[in-house]
Amino acid sequence: MSEARRIVLLGPPGGGKGTQAKRLETKHGWCQLSTGDILRKAIADGTPLGQRVKAILDAGKLVSDDEIMGVIGERLEQPDCAANGFILDGVPRTLGQAEALERLLAEKGTPLDAVVEVRVPDEMLMERITGRFFCAACKANYHDSFHRPKVEGVCDHCGSTEFIRRSDDSPETVKDRLASYHEQTEPLLPFYEERGLLKLVDGTRSMDEVTAEMERVLGV
Ligand code: AP5
Repeated sequence: MSEARRIVLLGPPGGGKGTQAKRLETKHGWCQLSTGDILRKAIADGTPLGQRVKAILDAGKLVSDDEIMGVIGERLEQPDCAANGFILDGVPRTLGQAEALERLLAEKGTPLDAVVEVRVPDEMLMERITGRFFCAACKANYHDSFHRPKVEGVCDHCGSTEFIRRSDDSPETVKDRLASYHEQTEPLLPFYEERGLLKLVDGTRSMDEVTAEMERVLGV
């Protein structure tokens, strides 16, 4: 367990944010907070939030800032995030969310320590996303080419033999998700640069190399 840190991971869809956030959570105890995972669970559970956002995720568009900040505010209050620090994976994604997050953390007296951009060019992302699949039971992340289970057809983590793919990982939806990233999320890079928080990591390297580089820029 490392010292508590408050970190944002910024990067395009398929850039490896979720992969790295899980690794950092396991190694350092910082709680991974993925808005995508929270929204997909709400959809699977059929909650009112899930019903409101399902069509938006299926289309690869962004959910409203108010909806997202409601989700985040609740999760940050929970004891694991408050005590161990957190890695925000997939949020903020608009300038409105970045400003609201800044206000929320300032009120608590717990500002961000670092924002890490995981940079991967568009041409690599399509293959990463369309080849991705998950364990149906524990949601561990795999890839057709880059990360297969050690025993074919059996999850390394829980032994389940059922796997699923995300409904928004089709090539058409990925194009819309990439457009949302370039139009609405990239403007956050200068926002965090101005605050002296931005660190850059080359996300095209192997998963282990990316983790090592993240730890280096975070000084852990
Ligand atoms: P979200 O779930 O956040 O999706 P995303 O940002 O599109 O990111 P992904 O989960 O697709 O990619 P990732 O960067 O985590 O990559 P991964 O590690 O899986 O959001 C989904 C939707 O929810 C949005 O479209 C939006 O509708 C909504 N939403 C969520 N947050 C929102 C917000 N704040 N505001 C508004 N709407 C919001 O890696 C991808 C694949 O590549 C994996 O198979 C992995 O094994 C492989 N891989 C990873 N790293 C490497 C490597 N170094 N080398 C080779 N392969 C690698």
